[in-house]
Amino acid sequence: MIAYAGKSRQIPLVEECGVESDYLEWADHGGNAMTQPARIVDILRQQPVGEVIEVSGWLRTRRDSGSLAFLEINDGSCLASLQVIAEERLANYEAEVKKLTTGCSLQVQGVLVASPAKGQAVEVRAESVTVVGWADPETYPLQKKRHSFEFLRSIAHLRPRTNALGAVARVRSALSFAIHRFFHEQGFLQVHTPVITTSDCEGAGEMFTVTALEPDRLQGRDPFGGDFFGRRAGLTVSGQLQAEIFALSHGRVYTFGPTFRAENSNTSRHLAEFWMVEPEMAFCDLQGNMEMAEAMIKSLVATALTECAEDLALFEQHVAKGLIEKLTQVRDRPFVHLTYTEAVAELLRSGRTFEFPVQWGIDLQAEHERYLCEEVAAAPVIVTNYPQAIKPFYMRLDDDGRTVAAMDILVAGIGELVGGSQREERFEVLTTRMAAAGLDLEQYGWYLDLRRFGSVPHAGFGLGFERLVQFVTGMQNIRDVIPFPRTPGSAPC
Ligand code: 4AD
Ligand code: MG
Repeated sequence: MIAYAGKSRQIPLVEECGVESDYLEWADHGGNAMTQPARIVDILRQQPVGEVIEVSGWLRTRRDSGSLAFLEINDGSCLASLQVIAEERLANYEAEVKKLTTGCSLQVQGVLVASPAKGQAVEVRAESVTVVGWADPETYPLQKKRHSFEFLRSIAHLRPRTNALGAVARVRSALSFAIHRFFHEQGFLQVHTPVITTSDCEGAGEMFTVTALEPDRLQGRDPFGGDFFGRRAGLTVSGQLQAEIFALSHGRVYTFGPTFRAENSNTSRHLAEFWMVEPEMAFCDLQGNMEMAEAMIKSLVATALTECAEDLALFEQHVAKGLIEKLTQVRDRPFVHLTYTEAVAELLRSGRTFEFPVQWGIDLQAEHERYLCEEVAAAPVIVTNYPQAIKPFYMRLDDDGRTVAAMDILVAGIGELVGGSQREERFEVLTTRMAAAGLDLEQYGWYLDLRRFGSVPHAGFGLGFERLVQFVTGMQNIRDVIPFPRTPGSAPC
């Protein structure tokens, strides 16, 4: 038994409850013992017909038929709702049950029975229906009809109660857990890299500044000298540089956390705050890096296909036809490899007129990336060996002196899902590149030390978590796969 929130009341640990029990007792804020209701997903999976159960959730619909009311209750644990039959004999039938509308919260006790009607295997014969919270139908914004994703973005606090956004939240959670499981099983150490940092890893000048100064003190030549950290600090654009530190002590590590970019890109694939998973591996080259990335993506897609089948079926039907076939192929077929030079040749050969004209040396744009994986390969494409001029300082210079050991993984519908590289482990080459990029070598002394003392070939990559969720769900807009999107001009809560 453990004490709960400092109260004398005790709650049983899960183990002590016994595996059969669906109920966990705990104390509510008033100090009363509460019973945690069963989740609808477990009831529908286990179908304990004949047992008395208790469920809590939000009403999706109410339909009356003679002396009965059919209530569809959803508790977010799965896409399906549980059908509750409320009969006239219930004490609050006229006064409350018949007044229930979409969005009301309810607690229902009753017996689970086999359902005579099609559409569900089981249903609940209610012994009691308790209204926990009303939702005024005049002002509750969610109704039974389908709402546009754009409208739902304007009610971020209520949209998780819809089928599609509820499903996105479950897939996102399953994928997040699967990422930790994958790396744990592969023997990786998780490192919590800092959110506040003084290094701009990507060197793109997209760091949000973190300051304790009042706005009027932010003028002058070196306003940050007197600031909290004594120099300019910002929100991290990548945990890579710090992950490299631990790769060079623990071998295989990863970081998975929020990442921030003051990038003024108003697109369906960019956020100012997104989550990135970044593995970093010592004694690893570009080849090993590509293999790890492909294995990880395949494993995550396989998890989604098996663990989120009901939700993916919803996306297949309403959001992206062919989604499940696409994901199955990603899981089962090898990715296609192209060097940047080959990719450019393919684009030139295509005869297409792209908005951004193609020539060797350009940064590939989403339209090019999508052409390569949708038209050329019909599979995810790993593009390697980009020109050094368009990639950050830390990527390992190739022997030709023109390209670096970079790899981007491009997927249909999204474009770049992963960006990574083998890192420059040679002190002299690295310092030359950093100086050319205009970096203050003194400030990066700690990074250079990793090349001074026991340097090893190492490699890693970053996968944009929201782009992965987009890819797996088929959702068109990245703002619909993160609970609270932050984009230029928009951070409402
Ligand atoms: O290619 P990027 O910029 O790579 C890095 O940050 C490396 N330091 C990662 C590493 O090697 N450890 O970003 C990696 C991925 C991109 O491929 C993309 O999926 C995602 O992060 N990403 C974004 N996702 C949403 N919104 C944005 N503004 C993003 N910028 C990058
Ligand atoms: Mg990139």
